[in-house]
Amino acid sequence: MEEIDLSDRRGLIAMAELYNIASTESLAQQNGNSNNNPASHLRHRAMSPSQSDASVRVRKPVVFSCFDLRHFVQMWGRWVILWICCCLSQSISSDGSQDNSEEIISETSHGPTAAELRLSKSLIPLWYNLTIKIYVPGFVEIPKEKNLSFDGALTIKIRVDEPTNKIELNSIKLGLPSGLSDYAILEDIPVARHRRQTDDANRTKPKTKNSSEAINDSGEKLPPREPSGVKVVKMTQNETLEKAIFELSDTLKKGQEYYFQFVYTGTIDSKLAGLYLTHYADKNGAQRYAAVTQMEPTDARRMVPCFDEPEFKAVWRLKIIHPVGSSAVSNAKEILENEETEHPDWIYTTFEESLPMSSYLLALCVSDFEFVEGNTKRGTRFRIWSRKEAINETVYALEAGKKVLEFYEDYYNITFPLSKQDMMAFPDFSAGAMENWGLITYREKYLLYNPKVYTPLQKQSVAVVVAHELAHQWFGNLVTMKWWNDLWLNEGFATLMEYKGTDAISDGAFRMDEYFVYDAQDEAFGRDARASSHPLAFPIEKAEDVTEAFDTITYDKGGSVLRMIRAIMGEKYFQKGLTTYLNKYRYSNAEHTDLWNTLSEAVPEGLNDWNGNKFNVDEFAKPWTEQMGYPVVNVRRVDKNRIELSQKRFKIDEDAKEPPKYRNAKWWYKWDVPLWYSVNGEEKPMKWLHE
Ligand code: BES
Ligand code: ZN
Repeated sequence: MEEIDLSDRRGLIAMAELYNIASTESLAQQNGNSNNNPASHLRHRAMSPSQSDASVRVRKPVVFSCFDLRHFVQMWGRWVILWICCCLSQSISSDGSQDNSEEIISETSHGPTAAELRLSKSLIPLWYNLTIKIYVPGFVEIPKEKNLSFDGALTIKIRVDEPTNKIELNSIKLGLPSGLSDYAILEDIPVARHRRQTDDANRTKPKTKNSSEAINDSGEKLPPREPSGVKVVKMTQNETLEKAIFELSDTLKKGQEYYFQFVYTGTIDSKLAGLYLTHYADKNGAQRYAAVTQMEPTDARRMVPCFDEPEFKAVWRLKIIHPVGSSAVSNAKEILENEETEHPDWIYTTFEESLPMSSYLLALCVSDFEFVEGNTKRGTRFRIWSRKEAINETVYALEAGKKVLEFYEDYYNITFPLSKQDMMAFPDFSAGAMENWGLITYREKYLLYNPKVYTPLQKQSVAVVVAHELAHQWFGNLVTMKWWNDLWLNEGFATLMEYKGTDAISDGAFRMDEYFVYDAQDEAFGRDARASSHPLAFPIEKAEDVTEAFDTITYDKGGSVLRMIRAIMGEKYFQKGLTTYLNKYRYSNAEHTDLWNTLSEAVPEGLNDWNGNKFNVDEFAKPWTEQMGYPVVNVRRVDKNRIELSQKRFKIDEDAKEPPKYRNAKWWYKWDVPLWYSVNGEEKPMKWLHE
């Protein structure tokens, strides 16, 4: 049995909490030390672009995994009457594993607290209207001082949930006006008063069409607004907190909506974060440039001052002013494209309003890329973009994208909510791919495929990545985690769907679903067998810490636990629960417990837990998500007709000690293990191994 120190559970838990604060053992170190998983290697690059190498996510040949319990139990089934010993001897001994030798270094960091880094919930953004002029080099003459920069004009419509005399926005390295009169806080003119004013104006002024109404670039009437009387009296940019703080002359009133307006500037980043510059050589060897975004997890604030936390979903309206010779793409469909401005070198493109979405999904690109286009059965316009030289290599991605989008519409039983989907391939890209709603961005090698040059494995990896990112369009984009601590659910779910999605793309030819156990699950086993692993769910208080969570536990263990829940419930019921969940929380946010509760409601009659109560997803999932590791199930023959099963946490090195904060696992490193088995080839109902 697993040796767990229970000598003073309460005392040790308290101490573990203390270590929590004091320990210098960061997840980053743990991940860095022992992760040799090619999939997570790919993911790790998302955090550290400098580590870039050319490895693709390699699929292994299928062999039997000794932990594939189903096969194992089947082997025994011929002779055996399964007897699950309910009272497995639980010789949990006290080993004094409270390891005093471990160094405790007290917290020396004086960085901001998690609370200081968060935004208050007093103000809720409803709508952003951003006009952005992007000085991408290589197209037109750009004044020297403007090269590699952008100008923004922003209006944020804000709802006041609690009275406040302060507006706080996330912002990093943006040039905000220092003149306080450059900020305006407006409010809607009440309809009745506006009508009166319009009538008066029409009586007194010579009649011109719409004389009292402002019209925007798309020819639409702008709602009438007037100064609210509230002024900005102080502006502070705090780069440590990544915030711009605006102190106001008066209190914003609860229940009111205001428009906060100002212009600002920024620089096009060179580090693949926020709005950054990407470049490539064309067929003549000339340098070509494009500007593109990568916002997840917390880099939208580098391009636009905003409420940059996933729970602040809002509608985005964009107008991009870009150089002649370039085109602009964003999350939503364009309304006016490449329209002339007053300056012959500059054109503009306007976009429809986005659906309510989190800021980390905001995306735009200004480039000279070309595209191939198709339509899905339900009429979603699908485009794949690449640099001109690679355009013939986009054909596979277009077919793959259309097919898997249609597959997910059927699987989720929810029509894709956008009128278009763009996917773009970039020579420089920090992650493998990013699921921005309606504009998915990829590293070239995960979107382009040329059968004459590339191996079948590359074709498969394109299908996998396309399937993964499109799965997020519902799970992640339509319904988004409330906070980054549920990132594992987002990425775990897309990992799970990746396999079915790839089968849909290849009409089953890749047989990906059959590889899950040997691929994702095996990766998870490898990582989670180490003492340096971590629970799937762990608190992420500071958004900056989330970058450490993009690892194989998040993706592969996350996917494996979800797959186990799916297997227990049965695919049909799981799918039904999922559809209910996506509909219930669409355009909004949810926590993992919301998913568990919705799935629990879809559990079929007669599916019980080990104790005979109706199967409850939340109760079952907790030990799997809140403690690290997993069990190995030992089967011992008792006599001719009986075997005894027992579980023990599997560790690759029994002596290695986990970080103190995870050492005293809440469930004593025990899990409820579902067992599927057959006797003489006859499949039996699932049984539980508990304790
Ligand atoms: N949401 C991630 C992209 C991401 C990763 C953003 C890390 C920020 C930090 C995306 O859905 C993803 O998981 N991409 C994978 C590719 C996937 C097929 C495994 C990646 O980039 O490694
Ligand atoms: Zn993902």
